[in-house]
Amino acid sequence: MHVMVLAGGLSYERDVSLRSGRRVSDALRRVGVETTTVDADADLLSTLHTSQPDAVFIALHGAPGEDGALRGVLDAADVPYVGAAAAESRLAWDKPVAKTLLRRAGIDTPDWMALPHETFRELGAAAVLERVVKSIGLPLMVKPVNGGSGLGATPVFDAGELPAAMMSCFAYGGTALLERFISGIDVAVSVIDAGDGPQALPVVEIEPADGVYDYTARYTAGITRWHAPARLSPEKLQQLAEMALQAHTTLGLRDLSRMDAIIDTDGRAHVLEVSVSPGMTETSLTPLAVAAADLDLGIVCRSLVERAIE
Ligand code: DAL
Repeated sequence: MHVMVLAGGLSYERDVSLRSGRRVSDALRRVGVETTTVDADADLLSTLHTSQPDAVFIALHGAPGEDGALRGVLDAADVPYVGAAAAESRLAWDKPVAKTLLRRAGIDTPDWMALPHETFRELGAAAVLERVVKSIGLPLMVKPVNGGSGLGATPVFDAGELPAAMMSCFAYGGTALLERFISGIDVAVSVIDAGDGPQALPVVEIEPADGVYDYTARYTAGITRWHAPARLSPEKLQQLAEMALQAHTTLGLRDLSRMDAIIDTDGRAHVLEVSVSPGMTETSLTPLAVAAADLDLGIVCRSLVERAIE
């Protein structure tokens, strides 16, 4: 079996993706799977044609790996791949759309509004602030509607912080998601389906050293502590597992996903997002959850590939 691991690409998460790709490739090789890691670029179709892999493992983060575009290319080339199909991937990638679908399914997600850069410019910071404070209130989280790894995401506690947060967000994308900021415990629940139906892995609790789970805290070893399983009651862990499975199926995902959520001070869980291409780096949450479940990352990845090929 020959697996092409797609990594890199041109998104803001390129470096993370290269690290994810290396980890997946090493894990697969360790269990006897031949891999080639390919930096996804405009030559992808001809590379696929030349290499003829049995399957692709998408370790790309951001566009085009998560927005459905690359998955559409793989569909057209008839190459099986691990992960959500193109259309569903696109839904999960678009945070306001995903949040709408989750909420419709009865899954809690913080109040939000989406604001294009154009509108922000036309209305001006003062009018936007008035509107936002009326509908969502402060504090809030400002982040791009697409993308991950905490890039362009800033908490806003005071009105005066909004303009800078918006500008930082617009550096990463044309539309901002303004979401009610919920203070509490950050958790992540990965879901894998290697053929026996979707299963939730142990809940990972995230404890960043200075309380902020930003890009540096995510990818620098030693800055964040993790607890897997999370230090929560068995009932809460079970509830989070069910929530992750419900989110996975609500968005029509397959193979692999990771739900990020926050548990507020009353113990209520709110979904922040669902990733179809969760990070697989040394400091990423899904490999931690795999280890906490006493599973081997290579065997899990190999099972996912085998299922994609079926
Ligand atoms: N977007 C990063 C890679 C993650 O969700 O883990």
